[in-house]
Amino acid sequence: MNKLNLAVIYGGTSPERDVSLVSGKEALAALNTDRYTIFQYDPKEGLDALVQDAPTIDVALILLHGSPGEDGSIQGLLDLLKIPYQGAGLLGSAIAMDKILSKQLYTDAGIPTPKAVEIQKGVPFDTAAIVATLGLPLFVKPACGGSSLGMFRVTRQEELNAAVMESLTFDDKVVIEAFIEGIELTCGVLGNDAPEALPVIEIIPEGESPYFDYEAKYTPGATTEICPARITPALTEKAMDLAMQAHRALHLKGYSRTDMILKGEALFVLETNTIPGMTRTSLLPRAAQAAGFSFSALLDRLIELALESGKK
Ligand SMILES: Nc1ncnc2c1ncn2[C@@H]1O[C@H](COP(=O)(O)OP(=O)(O)O)[C@@H](O)[C@H]1O
Ligand SMILES: [Mg+2]
Repeated sequence: MNKLNLAVIYGGTSPERDVSLVSGKEALAALNTDRYTIFQYDPKEGLDALVQDAPTIDVALILLHGSPGEDGSIQGLLDLLKIPYQGAGLLGSAIAMDKILSKQLYTDAGIPTPKAVEIQKGVPFDTAAIVATLGLPLFVKPACGGSSLGMFRVTRQEELNAAVMESLTFDDKVVIEAFIEGIELTCGVLGNDAPEALPVIEIIPEGESPYFDYEAKYTPGATTEICPARITPALTEKAMDLAMQAHRALHLKGYSRTDMILKGEALFVLETNTIPGMTRTSLLPRAAQAAGFSFSALLDRLIELALESGKK
């Protein structure tokens, strides 16, 4: 088999640069060098080298998290350069990056998502009215954020204004969401034409973290993750079905990972990640492992799916 020239793109300039550097490093260590000749690119250093090398590159693995990078911008550049890449295209990436747009599409598709209010920079808002509508606690999130950065769990009305102002430093749009108390789940989806849901993971933040915040996500041992989730077969099926529905509703491709909360028998979708964390112990690789894919086999599969969709 001829070796493929593979561009691994990671790092970048989003607030999630550090997370991306770890994803990139671990993926590079796991990629099968019998199959790939690997070229590395960090958009922080500029993209000239990637543009120059484009004619010789067969396929790209984008391991950028957050915006810019996961939001369709690098996907658009690769489209222009005619380089196939794993996962969602420009449109799906842009939609899924935006939690407000995603929620609108979930709702249109009948996918339950927590009640929310949108705030735009410079437009006045009434904290009392928001609390009256959504109750307390509340989650304040930048519309196009990730890794729980710029996110606040607000327990008192007096804290809401400051939380929104801080969140608005991450993005010009902020979503304020009703708190759903329950079991946190995440479910991956893998495949192009006939995507399949991966086993559901249950997430239990321990210790200091009241929710799956940045520390809980990236401090070793701060979170317990159980796969498959300890929920009934019927609820497991429902969670998998919602992950597939969310994947379709947001026009995604290749793979994705949808975060949800289970409250009693009701599931609520929080968001769908188009370039989920890609370290060996990240959630999607863990779920893939439970489905029989080693980390390296998962990377091979993503690259295979990229080439398959690039051919169309
Ligand atoms: N409405 C909510 N109710 C309960 N917990 C929430 C809610 N929104 C967010 N969270 C908590 O915050 C974490 C991050 O939120 P999420 O919407 O997935 O954004 P991110 O893109 O930062 O991962 C979730 O994994 C969950 O622990
Ligand atoms: Mg999330």
